[in-house]
Amino acid sequence: MTEKDLLFDTILARSFSRTGKKRLGYGAFIASLLFVFTLCTVSKPYLSPLPIVEMQLSVDAGLRMLKITEPQALRSSNNETSADSEKLIIQTNQDNVTSSAVITQSLISSEDHKLSVCNDTSLPKNFLDSFNCTTNTTIPKEEVISDENKLEKTMKPICTKLARTEFCELSGDVRIHGKSATVLAAITFAFSGNSTWHMRPYARKGDLVAMNRVRKWTVKLEQNADQLENANFSRCVRNHSVPAMIFSLGGYTMNNFHDFTDVVIPLYTTARRFNGEVQFLVTNRNPWWINKFKELVKKLSNYEVIYIDEEDETHCFSSVTVGLIRHREYFTELTIDPSNSEYSMSDFRSFLRDTYSLRNAAVITSQIRRRRPRILILSRSRSRAFENTGEIARAARQIGFEVVVAEANTGVANFAQTVNSCDVMLGVHGAGLTNMVFLPDNAVVIQILPIGGFEWLAKTDFERPSEGMNLRYLEYKIAAEESSLVKKYGRDHEVVRDPSAVAKHGWDMFKSVYLVHQNVSIDINRFKPALVKALELL
Ligand SMILES: *[C@@H]1O[C@H](CO)[C@@H](O)[C@H](O)[C@H]1NC(C)=O
Ligand SMILES: *[C@@H]1O[C@H](CO)[C@@H](O)[C@H](O)[C@H]1NC(C)=O
Ligand SMILES: *[C@@H]1O[C@H](CO)[C@@H](O)[C@H](O)[C@H]1NC(C)=O
Ligand SMILES: *[C@@H]1O[C@H](CO)[C@@H](O)[C@H](O)[C@H]1NC(C)=O
Ligand SMILES: *[C@@H]1O[C@H](CO)[C@@H](O)[C@H](O)[C@H]1NC(C)=O
Ligand SMILES: *[C@@H]1O[C@H](CO)[C@@H](O)[C@H](O)[C@H]1NC(C)=O
Ligand SMILES: *[C@@H]1O[C@H](CO)[C@@H](O)[C@H](O)[C@H]1NC(C)=O
Ligand SMILES: *[C@@H]1O[C@H](CO)[C@@H](O)[C@H](O)[C@H]1NC(C)=O
Ligand SMILES: *[C@@H]1O[C@H](CO)[C@@H](O)[C@H](O)[C@H]1NC(C)=O
Repeated sequence: MTEKDLLFDTILARSFSRTGKKRLGYGAFIASLLFVFTLCTVSKPYLSPLPIVEMQLSVDAGLRMLKITEPQALRSSNNETSADSEKLIIQTNQDNVTSSAVITQSLISSEDHKLSVCNDTSLPKNFLDSFNCTTNTTIPKEEVISDENKLEKTMKPICTKLARTEFCELSGDVRIHGKSATVLAAITFAFSGNSTWHMRPYARKGDLVAMNRVRKWTVKLEQNADQLENANFSRCVRNHSVPAMIFSLGGYTMNNFHDFTDVVIPLYTTARRFNGEVQFLVTNRNPWWINKFKELVKKLSNYEVIYIDEEDETHCFSSVTVGLIRHREYFTELTIDPSNSEYSMSDFRSFLRDTYSLRNAAVITSQIRRRRPRILILSRSRSRAFENTGEIARAARQIGFEVVVAEANTGVANFAQTVNSCDVMLGVHGAGLTNMVFLPDNAVVIQILPIGGFEWLAKTDFERPSEGMNLRYLEYKIAAEESSLVKKYGRDHEVVRDPSAVAKHGWDMFKSVYLVHQNVSIDINRFKPALVKALELL
């Protein structure tokens, strides 16, 4: 056995011992920060079978079936299984208490999965297959009402399930008891369906590993306020005059990509409309996160954050949103779908520029530009590092760029300035590329793909999002020779030849090999055309 194989085996042994632990605790999660990269979270539309959605609308006690508008791609769904069904309560016209609607959504959950990766429905099916997942995982589909009688115009859902999130919008007499994670709301109109709703207020539904790190809340709807008085804790001790929002800072927060896609963007789309007049109630206490995004949090809420979990006193509001609104599509990240949001990604980016005082809204064309175009080389110091940053910088300079080399660890406000001052951002696939949100319009992103078969990830995480941000996108897939794995294992080793075979050894193994223990050494001659192309695009 060669030394190389021994190394591989060592990693393997370590990985298996980790796989043995069924659930990562929060501590373990932090310890494994290096590993918590987007691979465990990204998505592609391969999954099957798809869930069924049944919908009924009861109007004045009469039942009428409504048509469900299904996206084309989901139409050929397999409807064999329907376990775990939950109900949504839909409020009708605020003043009209005679009608109500019930939506039943069927989710699929069946046998126990063997590996945690099998629980992550956001992974592509061909990838899951290599883990021998015994059950079909699936995504919970959102429900859409298409009402020929135009009733939907007067209906406002109280609780809504979308593919990646659940949220309740409660108004009236709403009381929150943090210690028991309970929200009580007095509902003054008639409704049918289950009045108790359990939810985890984090916008990555479907990813069980993430959701396991999110506190579960109970929303209870009571028909009248008197019933609220029955529960001891419901006596209002803290009365608030502004609306509140409950959301979690657990899940995959502390990874920059997830900070944005799971929290910052949904927080923006949910909270912006309050224009600062909203009280944030944070579950899964995380002062680190609040500090990291302090400028942004301050911009969205004029009030000091309340960590609600330990609160034994009942807080009362006249309006509460539990959970964050996230776009409808399951398989998209870092995106706002303007067709179902008041906001667009452009609004979000201009909000960021405002928040962090960024000057450049768009790149300046070469005719007007007085300086050389500027390229930011994103360095990483621990994993997926460039081994020849100096050479890359030299080549870029020769081509005509001014070069900035920086690692995204200088604080959000500071790094946002750096990114916004550049015309091109170059980096190996990783959370650092999320900083593209700060680039000016028409800037160029160059994503470097390490070996391991990251095309699907590259596309979902950064290529498609870049389109929504008015950025130009280039990709450079390294050749095996440019990977440090070749030096370590040799050209013919399974690790280099066949990543899917490595995947069979388990998810942790795969991550460890390709995401943690791989660096890249760019072949300048092979790479130069990408730099030239970037310059041409400006
Ligand atoms: C699946 O749906 C079709 C059409 O709605 C129905 O005819 C069929 O019986 C369903 N199959 C099962 C197993 O429920
Ligand atoms: C409630 O809705 C019905 C049917 O749309 C309508 O006739 C009635 O006037 C409404 N009542 C109130 C109080 O708005
Ligand atoms: C995966 O899901 C199954 C059943 O849904 C559960 O028993 C198991 O603990 C989950 N595994 C992890 C790692 O979350
Ligand atoms: C996957 O499962 C099948 C049948 O259960 C088994 O024959 C095969 O050896 C398994 N493959 C791996 C890599 O565990
Ligand atoms: C998974 O779904 C496919 C088709 O959708 C089906 O052929 C297969 O039998 C299912 N596997 C399991 C384990 O349910
Ligand atoms: C309503 O929800 C509660 C709590 O989840 C559950 O125990 C109960 O069975 C549900 N009732 C109905 C009718 O679904
Ligand atoms: C309220 O609290 C008191 C004392 O802790 C207890 O005796 C009583 O049963 C509680 N009532 C309700 C409705 O929970
Ligand atoms: C909060 O408001 C309720 C209803 O208006 C009132 O009964 C209660 O005394 C108030 N509590 C405090 C602490 O002011
Ligand atoms: C990758 O590069 C970093 C920074 O130079 C270094 O600390 C790490 O050991 C390297 N990893 C591998 C697998 O070469």
